[in-house]
Amino acid sequence: MKLGVLTGGGDCPGLNAVIRAVVRKSMQFGYEIIGIREGWRGLLENKYTPLDRDSVSGILHRGGTILGTSRTNVYKEKDGEARVIKSLKENNIDALVAIGGEDTLGVAAKLFKAGVKVVGVPKTIDNDLNATDYTFGFDTAVNIATEAIDRLHTTAESHNRVIVVEVMGRHAGWIAVHSGMAGGADIILIPEVPFNFEEVCDTLIKRHSRGKNFSIVVISEGAKLQTENTQDPDGSFILSSLNKDSFGHVKLGGIGNILAEEIEKRTGFETRATVLGYLQRGGSPSAYDRVLATRFGVFASELVEKQQWGYMASLKGNDIVAVSLADATGQLKVVDKDLYEVASTFFG
Ligand code: F6P
Repeated sequence: MKLGVLTGGGDCPGLNAVIRAVVRKSMQFGYEIIGIREGWRGLLENKYTPLDRDSVSGILHRGGTILGTSRTNVYKEKDGEARVIKSLKENNIDALVAIGGEDTLGVAAKLFKAGVKVVGVPKTIDNDLNATDYTFGFDTAVNIATEAIDRLHTTAESHNRVIVVEVMGRHAGWIAVHSGMAGGADIILIPEVPFNFEEVCDTLIKRHSRGKNFSIVVISEGAKLQTENTQDPDGSFILSSLNKDSFGHVKLGGIGNILAEEIEKRTGFETRATVLGYLQRGGSPSAYDRVLATRFGVFASELVEKQQWGYMASLKGNDIVAVSLADATGQLKVVDKDLYEVASTFFG
């Protein structure tokens, strides 16, 4: 068996831990393992690198991905599917482990339908992939955001300021809710629950009137303003650029600054914004993510050994189980209403 491994989409702490686990477990099965560089692009452009025990030594704790990554969408490239199948054949690659989120695994699900032997591993700091309780990378991102909120608390308090913290989360507010709860945020705004400036400002004014002269507001980059227009789901997103990536996603960013300006204008409270951005994605994975990524990688290799093509490693409770790629990519996993309700108990 010659097994190809690729990492696609945005990078994420724990990718190297998965690669290491896939290689080490697959070596026990006697496979030859080949790394495919820069996600699906590597298959279209024949970018390969052999993987063995030495090449994955010392990478468990390292952020990023030794294979590189891209947001290349096979199905947006001319003859993409046929070219991938040809490339696999020409390089004698029997099967693939695709490590990615909704986009990368969506491509894997389509390739599986076209006859490619592929299994998946769920990755994204956003934790919005369906059919798994958690993705690896999320815990690290939440820890980074929580530490940032703790630090922003002390400066907000010293200066009697409102600080708006913008965290990642395009369609789902998991990072905002978890870091906001852990960091004791006074308001948490997420894509699932459109907000308006009046309510946010009312909450801050009431808090002020109780003698609390500082506040922390956590907002997901994909949080939306309430609008009349419910037809266009991207209509009220705040964009940092109009360009779309090859999966059709617009580039978000800037809602935190806009909210901070509105708060200051409407309340008179001195307000600042901090955008955490790529800090949430870079650097070493947490211990939890290293363990989860390792378990996912070993399980993916076992799926290959059992020839369970079209399946993905998934965390359900404390167990790693197999779920179909179709189930994992059919829809996004958004924040649970009950969890947001618990978080909102502490607003104001
Ligand atoms: O990995 C997911 C994510 O972090 C989203 O929250 C964010 O919108 C996106 O990646 C931005 O990534 P990039 O700028 O690399 O496309």
